[in-house]
Parts: sequence; structure tokens; C-alpha cells
Amino acid sequence: MIMEQQEIIALRETVEKTSLRHIAFIMDGNGRWATRQNLPREAGHRAGADNLKSIVRLCGDIGIHAVTVYAFSTENWKRPALEVNAIMQLLDRFIAEAKASNDENGIRYVFLGDKSGLKPALAAKCTELEQLTKDNHSLLNIALNYGGRAELVHACRQLAERGGEITEADLSAALYTGHCADPDLIVRTAGEYRLSNFLLWQAAYAELYFTDVLWPDFHFADLRAAVEEFSHRKRRFGGV
Ligand code: IPE
Ligand code: IPE
Ligand code: MG
Repeated sequence: MIMEQQEIIALRETVEKTSLRHIAFIMDGNGRWATRQNLPREAGHRAGADNLKSIVRLCGDIGIHAVTVYAFSTENWKRPALEVNAIMQLLDRFIAEAKASNDENGIRYVFLGDKSGLKPALAAKCTELEQLTKDNHSLLNIALNYGGRAELVHACRQLAERGGEITEADLSAALYTGHCADPDLIVRTAGEYRLSNFLLWQAAYAELYFTDVLWPDFHFADLRAAVEEFSHRKRRFGGV
């Protein structure tokens, strides 16, 4: 335990020396994690949701106060209803726990995506959690019924309704992430090398980090490996 505290402090010092302020996670591999243990896929999602809580806590401990996670994509509705329902139930429970622990954890929750595609009761709970936590200091964006293309279309429609000149800043502001800066680092677990429609606009200059580790197995040492890798990247943003 003491060892882990020291490791956390050391990693926080590494973070301070970098431009790393916002990490986004594509939490992939829950299904494979379950299958490997002869468990139903739903058990993988449960383990994944538990791990999300612990990774968000660790991010705060190392001084990362903006985290975005990909929880459910606009394409994930293609999955069997049983699995979709299990994920929605887990989200429901996650929201209830977040609400109950609001006094301790100081996290502001924002849901990215189209709430109108969710069951009205769940959508209402999302909005309620956003309202309840809106003045908290650390940010957790949860991409839920989120697709990068759908987000861009949604933003373009808003801007078209408004009319007039459209700048990059206008488009950024009209996205679901209009309240925060772009991610500096995008981590994808489970060995897939793609974005799967995640943060297409916001990823323009993000550093990308891929690991074979499955999301429920992604722990402190894996987070440290990603952060250390980031600390060695040279971000040029098109310059020299
Ligand atoms: C990620 O895990 C969670 C969601 C997409 C909801 P997966 O369920 O995609 O896990 P794999 O990729 O099948 O292992
Ligand atoms: C991306 O994972 C979506 C989430 C992690 C929520 P998928 O498992 O849906 O992505 P693909 O199908 O492998 O591209
Ligand atoms: Mg997957």
C-alpha cells in the first residue's frame, strides 16, 4: 500500500512535467475478458464498470482532472438486447453510486451523446447527475450513445440553424465536449488499433496509445506505462 502511494506520487510528478491534462479511454475488451474466464459477457461489463471507478480515482490521484471514457457507442445497439440491457443497467447503477458519493469524490459528470436515444428514465438520471455535480472540480465525460460522426452532424445542424460565419472554434464549442479542452492522450485497450467513431474532431492532435491489456485488467501499472510513454512523445502540432 505504502509502495503504491509512493508510486502514485512519482507518477504525479511525471504528469506535472508534461502537457497531459486530459486522458480519454476507449474501454475495450470487456467481452473477451469474460469469455476467457468462461463467464457471460455481462460479467465483463460489470468488471469493466468497477475498473472505470478505480481508474478515474487514480487519474485524480496523479493530477489528471479531465477524463473521458467511451461507454457505449451509437453502433453498440447492434449487440444482442440482453447485453445492451445489461450495460444500461450497469450505467444506471453507476449513476446511482455517483450520486450517492457526490460529497466525497468532487467529480463533475457530463454525458456525451444523444440522450434522446436512451430510455427516458435513464436519460433523466444522466441529466440529474450533470446538474447535481455541475460545480465540481474534476471532470468525467461519459460517452453514452455517442458517435463522432453523429456528434459532428448534430453540431453542424445547430450552427446551420444559427446561421452566419462558422469557425473552427464555433464547431468545437457546438460539440458535446464544448465545455472542455481536447484530450491530450487517447488510450485504447484490448489490442485494436482504431478509433471506432470516438472523438473524431477532438482527436486531431491527441497522442494515441494502444495496449493489448483488456479493460478490466487495466490497472495502475498500465496507466503508468501510458503516461510514461506520453511523457516521451514530442508534440509538434505541425511545427518543427
Ligand atoms: C467494450 O468491451 C465495452 C463496450 C463496447 C460497451 P467490448 O464489449 O467491446 O469487449 P470485446 O471487444 O467484445 O472484448
Ligand atoms: C468501442 O468498442 C466502443 C466502446 C468501447 C464503448 P467496440 O468494441 O464497440 O469497437 P469495435 O466494434 O471493435 O470497433
Ligand atoms: Mg470491443
